[in-house]
Amino acid sequence: MRTYLVTGGAGFIGSNYIHYMFKKYGDSIRIINVDVLTYAGNLENLKDVENRDNYIFIKADITDKDAISKIFETYDIDRVVHFAAESHVDRSIKNPEVFVQTNVLGTAVMLNSAKAAWELPDGGYKPDKRFLHVSTDEVYGSLTNDDEYFYETTPYAPHSPYSASKAGSDMLVKAYMDTYKFPANITNCSNNYGPYQFPEKLIPLMINNCLQGKNLPVYGDGKNVRDWLYVEDHAKAIDMVQEQGRLFETYNIGGHNEKQNIEIINIIIETLREILPDSDPRKAHITKDLITYVEDRKGHDRRYAIAPDKIGAEIGWKPETMFKEGIKLTIKWYIEHEEWMKNVTSGDYQKYYSEMYKD
Ligand code: NAD
Ligand code: DAU
Repeated sequence: MRTYLVTGGAGFIGSNYIHYMFKKYGDSIRIINVDVLTYAGNLENLKDVENRDNYIFIKADITDKDAISKIFETYDIDRVVHFAAESHVDRSIKNPEVFVQTNVLGTAVMLNSAKAAWELPDGGYKPDKRFLHVSTDEVYGSLTNDDEYFYETTPYAPHSPYSASKAGSDMLVKAYMDTYKFPANITNCSNNYGPYQFPEKLIPLMINNCLQGKNLPVYGDGKNVRDWLYVEDHAKAIDMVQEQGRLFETYNIGGHNEKQNIEIINIIIETLREILPDSDPRKAHITKDLITYVEDRKGHDRRYAIAPDKIGAEIGWKPETMFKEGIKLTIKWYIEHEEWMKNVTSGDYQKYYSEMYKD
């Protein structure tokens, strides 16, 4: 039975990945989820799998060398899928240090522990061991022209403390591959959306605010472009890269689905109005009047757009969920999981929201 060590599995993409993997492989794999449960980690995201015999949760910090080495000593890990990170750009602007700590130092600890567990006396590695580092398109910086795209060869030019720390972590993985021939891959993905996303990010924040009748805070002119991918398509790509990708390679993952933020917000309003029955009292206040332009994000990247040519040509991956369908699935999920939203927006979230939006 192949054993996966997933870091950050209680977060948005990690939990969707774990669901995807159990759906695909059932009892033929074992997943060990290592997560320290920051504000973004939520075991409620994994309720459906927590009683499986082939699922283990370990609460540990990826910067804790002893804890991580012990996991590698206790279990014969075949695959590492490294999601754990501080992931929100706005938080990185306010408090950069924890991003360096978790994203850079945490990745160094993961690499060192895996290397120590997998390395053979001759400098080679035990057979069929692989480490996948989950990264972001933000490391490539910002595009200005509509016909430009991020390729795997695009030079790194991160702007925010978040993207700089992810770039640092990518560089460490590259250094381990170059120096030690460490068996790894890097994936750089565009913006994900879907179930279980913490409502500090654009799409769940806007859905929640619409349902609550609260203002929809649009940064700057609302014309910044992001390339949106349904999270399950990302999970599938990660698995395909790990099983079919060439070792030591980077693969860009994206949906060719570029939209301005204001377009996304208008689609959310329209889709909510379409889905909610007329009898739902929330429907009346879900209109474009909620849109409120606010101060721009500092250093706000203008446009991201991934060219997923390499992963398509080499591995045959392509996005399967069209945005029209994905956004409907996502909105329905949030409507049906009111309790989940209530739980994640109580307490600290209210403090974060009022400090961030001064609302
Ligand atoms: P998230 O913020 O929802 O989840 C992060 C998870 O990591 C949480 O469960 C948190 O508890 C855990 N974590 C944080 N610090 C930790 C530590 N020190 N030790 C152990 N666990 C820790 O993030 P996400 O949106 O699911 O992103 C996952 C990964 O994918 C990140 O590496 C991010 O950079 C990358 N990524 C995200 C997107 C996106 O659109 N969300 C796109 C491309 C790449
Ligand atoms: O591109 C991949 C990245 O996508 C990931 O690496 C990050 O982890 C993830 O958080 C995401 O970063 P963004 O900064 O692009 O996502 P966010 O949802 O924070 O913002 C999307 C866009 O919406 C961005 O242009 C800022 C804007 N925005 C965001 C919020 C939260 C608003 O206009 N208003 C808001 O309230």
